[in-house]
This record gives sequence, structure tokens and C-alpha cells, in this order.
Amino acid sequence: VGDHIKLRKADSEEKGTRVRVLGRVHRVRKQKENMFIELRDGYGIMQVLLQGKLTQTYDALILARETSMEIFGEMYEVPAGANAPLNRELHADFYKIPSNWRAAGGEDAITNRVQPGTEHATLLDLRHLTLRGDVSSSVMLVRDAVEYAFNQAYKESRIRKVSPPALVQTQVEGGATLFKFDYYGADAYLTQSSQLYLETCLPSLGDVYCIEKSFRAEKSLTRRHLSEYTHVEAELDFIDFNDLLNHIEHMICRVLEIILADPAIAEKVMKLNPEFKMPERPFMRMKYADAIEWLKEHDIPNEEGNPHAFGDDIAEAAERRMTDIINRPIFLTHFPVEIKAFYMQRDPEDQRVTESVDCLMPGVGEIVGGSMRLDDYDQLMAAFKREGLDPAPYYWYTDQRRYGSSPHGGYGLGLERFLAWLCKQHTVRDCCLYPRFMNRCKP
Ligand code: 4AD
Ligand code: MG
Repeated sequence: VGDHIKLRKADSEEKGTRVRVLGRVHRVRKQKENMFIELRDGYGIMQVLLQGKLTQTYDALILARETSMEIFGEMYEVPAGANAPLNRELHADFYKIPSNWRAAGGEDAITNRVQPGTEHATLLDLRHLTLRGDVSSSVMLVRDAVEYAFNQAYKESRIRKVSPPALVQTQVEGGATLFKFDYYGADAYLTQSSQLYLETCLPSLGDVYCIEKSFRAEKSLTRRHLSEYTHVEAELDFIDFNDLLNHIEHMICRVLEIILADPAIAEKVMKLNPEFKMPERPFMRMKYADAIEWLKEHDIPNEEGNPHAFGDDIAEAAERRMTDIINRPIFLTHFPVEIKAFYMQRDPEDQRVTESVDCLMPGVGEIVGGSMRLDDYDQLMAAFKREGLDPAPYYWYTDQRRYGSSPHGGYGLGLERFLAWLCKQHTVRDCCLYPRFMNRCKP
């Protein structure tokens, strides 16, 4: 678009080449005779040198960070370590700053509003500006690569993409976190998961996936819960539980392989997360019952402060401590029926537990939840009854068990949690564009 070159490309131009570049002032250093500008355009950052008269214009004298500029000049090679990417620097001989491209200076300058120590709520209000920072923009660029890589990896595995509805009249993951709204006079909800719809696609499309928003009215403020998040979900037909685990492991590793094959993305990941290394395969597999024993042995209490016992939920804090100590991905499997969703298949060898899996990552805990699904009509009806759910609105789901049922399973991966792990971010709030969580719905 346009006849100028994007900055990453410009960086590799041979010395002596004339270029025209457009971008915003990322940083500026003024010396006696010289001005060094780091120009940013979302593709790269280029060092630009202004000399002599060019540093004495009105525009140069009032130049504030974030001002947009059009610059013409010649590429120069500079010694390594000169703060210039690829040791290239642009020596400007002309530039233009239309008056409405100037960034506000003084009290209104971004740098004044976004200082280290600025309150978190204020930073969130200023998200449209903090997004321009190195860390936020890097996370967003990695996010773009990850989303693209999921699409590529699914395509390689011949899994088809579909787009289920966001406005629904059934729950998937419990009534407590439903966002309810008025739908032409009837009750409806924002979807918690596309899983049930994906299941209905198997007979016509084979294995399917989607990358859609899911919504949860989470009434707590944790560093890994959002009210609106991006959910990567897949559903696979005619598989067993072991196939499901192998597939999840493959997808996670394949996506990492794809994004790290791009040197620009690999560089961003390593800068955000210097300790990052590819997970070892196979992932560790641990049954829920063994995890309970492990937590007891390590004196990690349950939510009430008591030693863990079979049947307890493994709460966020305990889960994270466990993953941090073990310090590698863990497939936690075979959770008890009572603490998991209604649709989960039971383990044929132990009816107390389900063929379910959570994938846990160091620093974050659960990033994936999945299971084999009940594929028998009567068992599914019994599950609705046990949960106190009216099966009538689920007729389109239960019909799957009446017209050619099959052993099948799937999972959902929280994209922001995956990114929090990959980019070593403290909270999922920093892994999405404009986070939504309890009491936060702006900007
Ligand atoms: O474990 P969950 O609730 O499982 C499901 O929704 C299944 N129906 C998915 C499926 O089998 N198709 O959610 C799946 C994942 C979690 O592991 C977590 O990564 C993410 O979605 N997640 C959230 N991420 C951010 N904020 C929240 N409030 C989240 N709730 C779940
Ligand atoms: Mg879960």
C-alpha cells in the first residue's frame, strides 16, 4: 500500500539506497548538532539521523514522541552496537510533518500519562496508548502469529473451520457464569463455548475447529480470567482418549514450531520470555487422583485450607504451585464426574471419573480443557438429570446421539492463557487488545 517501504524491509536496504519512510516517533535523542529519531511503523523501528539545519526547524524544535513523520533520505551503514537495527541508519535530507500529524506535547504527552508506577486502572483506561509500547505491541504481534499458526496447523491436519453462533439459548459450562440478555423478548446468553455446536458438525464435515469469542461472567478478579476471551476449540470424530491427548500435544508443539520458524516472531518471543524453551514431548501425564496425592505430599492445601482429598476441585493457586514446581506442561486427566461438565464420557475402567484433561502450563496453570463426550443417548439424558438441566432446549445436541452417534472428543484452549505462558505475561489482561473483566468494559 503506497510507494513507501515498511521499516523492517527498509532496514535491509543496501547502503546508499534512497528511501521514503513513514512512521511515528518512538524515541528521540537530541544532541548539539544531531537528532536521532527512532521511527516506528508497526513493522519495525528504524534509526533516523537529522543533522544541521534539519534539527533547527520549528517542527524539530517541538518534536514530541508519537508525532507522525514522512522522511526522505539515504541508507547508511553504522558500526554494530550503534543502537540501529541491522546496523542501518537513515540519514534524512528532507521530512514533512503535516500540522495534524503532530503529537500533543506538554501535560498531554503520552509519556506524562504513562509512567512507571501509573495505577493499573489508569493504564487500562489508556490502553489505546499503552498498546503502542514495546511489550504490548510485541505481545499483539505474537498473538497474530499464533492465531495464524493455529489456522495453518489445523489445515495441515485437514480439520475444517466453522463459525458457530455467539448468541445461544443453552449453557455448556454451568449456569453461574452465563451472560444473559434479552433476545426479542426471550432469554438468551452469550456463548460460553462452541463445543456443542462443533459436535453437531462432525457427521457432515468430519473434524472441525473454530476460533471464536467465548464469554464468562466470572465474578472474581484473577490474573487469568476474562469476561470475553478467544477460544480455540476443536472436535474430533472416531477417536479415543489417548488420540485426544496426542492431538492436543501435537497442536501446541506444531503451533510453536510454526511461529518460531519466523525469525521476527522468534526474536519477540525470546525478548518477552528469555527462558522460553520448546516443551519436551511427550507431555507429562498425571491422573487427578495422583495429583491429589502429590498435593498432599507437598503440603499444598485446598481452598478451605485443608489437605486435598479425592473429589476436591484443584483451585487456581494449588494448580499453579504444582505446575511451577514440576515446571513443564502437564496433562492432568481423569477428573471426578462431580467436578466436571455434564457432557463428559466416563472412564470405562473407573466409573467415578471422566475421560477428561486439563493441560497445565508453568506460570499460568490450565490453558486447555477437553474430554471425550458422552455418545450414548440414555447416559446423556441421565447426565442432564443429574445436573438438574432441562434437556428440551438441547434437542439439537441430543439428536446427535439418535442419528449415528460416534466416539468423539475435543477441547478448548484459551488463547490469552496460551499467550500469557508463551510471552511470560503476568496476566491474560495483557494478552488481548482491550481486556474485558469484572467491572471493566472500556475503552
Ligand atoms: O475448561 P473450559 O471451561 O472448557 C470448555 O469450555 C469446553 N467446553 C471446551 C471444549 O471442550 N471445547 O474452557 C476451556 C479453556 C480453559 O482451559 C481456559 O484456557 C479458557 O478456556 N478459559 C478462559 N480464559 C480466560 N478467561 C476465562 N474466564 C476463561 N474460562 C476458560
Ligand atoms: Mg476448565
